[in-house]
Amino acid sequence: MSMTVRRLTRAATAGLVAAAALTAAAHSAEAADTLGSAAAGQGRYFGTAVAANHLGEADYAATLDREFSSVTPENEMKWDATEPSRGTFSFGSADRIVDHAQSQGMDVRGHTLVWHSQLPSWVGSLGASDLRTAMNDHINGLMGHYKGEIHSWDVVNEAFQDGGSGARRSSPFQDKLGNGFIEEAFRTARAADPAAKLCYNDYNTDGVNAKSNAVYDMVKDFKSRGVPIDCVGFQSHFNSNSPVPSDYRQNLQRFADLGVDVQITELDIEGSGSAQAADYTKVVEACLAVSRCTGMTVWGVTDKYSWRSSGTPLLFDGNYSEKPAYDAVLSALGGSGDPGDPDDPGDPGDGTPSCTATYTRTADWSSGYNGQVTITAGGEPISSWTATVTLPAQQSVSALWNGTPTWSGNVMTVRPSWNGTLAAGASTGFGFTVAKNGSDAAPVIGTCTAS
Ligand code: XIL
Repeated sequence: MSMTVRRLTRAATAGLVAAAALTAAAHSAEAADTLGSAAAGQGRYFGTAVAANHLGEADYAATLDREFSSVTPENEMKWDATEPSRGTFSFGSADRIVDHAQSQGMDVRGHTLVWHSQLPSWVGSLGASDLRTAMNDHINGLMGHYKGEIHSWDVVNEAFQDGGSGARRSSPFQDKLGNGFIEEAFRTARAADPAAKLCYNDYNTDGVNAKSNAVYDMVKDFKSRGVPIDCVGFQSHFNSNSPVPSDYRQNLQRFADLGVDVQITELDIEGSGSAQAADYTKVVEACLAVSRCTGMTVWGVTDKYSWRSSGTPLLFDGNYSEKPAYDAVLSALGGSGDPGDPDDPGDPGDGTPSCTATYTRTADWSSGYNGQVTITAGGEPISSWTATVTLPAQQSVSALWNGTPTWSGNVMTVRPSWNGTLAAGASTGFGFTVAKNGSDAAPVIGTCTAS
């Protein structure tokens, strides 16, 4: 699909984004018993990295939709995925994530525009003048496509060398354009989407050290010269060789004192049990102690799909069960973090039938698509459920299976056909075929109710 067409399509969904945000607000009025709602109670977001190819897995989507208020595409917005050859943009996988997030009222972090890694080889083969143009075209291409839809962009990622020197890392950008490439990228980004927060993102900068000092000096210089920068991202990939630094809070605070927001952008901590839980607590407490620490993102939903899966670094295990680290984070955020707490979704004993509804586009062709809504019972068994699907005005449903629809305008209310009875935590779902009639926008799924 050409970029121009998709741009129009994305802009046309703006009304749906607002509707989805209302759904999210309704969710957060419930008890602070999920990561997202507890963080919202602290004025923060709690996000996760998401991979488009897992969105069709019911447990993955249910955990994502229940717990998180922000998503970062794990790989789908990187240069190799979005501009594999010069001037040819492909947004399919990234759009799937953005559409999913918007249907759930979640924010989206953009990751990442200018980075030495996951960079197609054509970029490295350009001469300086072409490279500068290509860098700016790439920023404009992505930020234009998602204009108004991204709360923060990682404009430049990992531009400083690891180790003690505080020097810049070698990359096509650094080597051919010199130190000024970062400033140029930020200026281009500001013009491309003035509403997005512009972040510099890096790792091993979580504590005070030579590398974070070098980033600090750059941010200070940018602020003094009016180069646009709004936030600094601290990736926060921790393990026994790279533990949570004791001066983490102090480091976040010194950046905040320069007049930028700080965000924890790719948090994962290898380990297990109470030791891992205690490390997660330190990170959350550090962020909450810094008023300009606006949110945290863990680098994945489940250990099963972590880029460091052998280190089991995340909050949900491979079966999507809450780990001790989950309870520690929820409790540090002021939520009800007791294991088996009857208020926790999925924990038995609250006596109230409940359900969640999550949406996935399971097939897509030029004139239509198939949607699947997964219904998952909460901590109690249920005997029936009701879910609403609001379709974009042009679209029409030509078939529906495993559910019984009633219509009011473009709102479809779906009840079970044969599949109303669910054990606690069990899932079913219904599917439908939609004629696009010119609109590729995603439907908005309302709150699931159960009896
Ligand atoms: C990682 C992804 O998690 C992997 O799936 C991929 O193979 C490599 O990149 N710093 C970053 C992230 O900024 O983009 C990286 O993500 C992890 C390190």
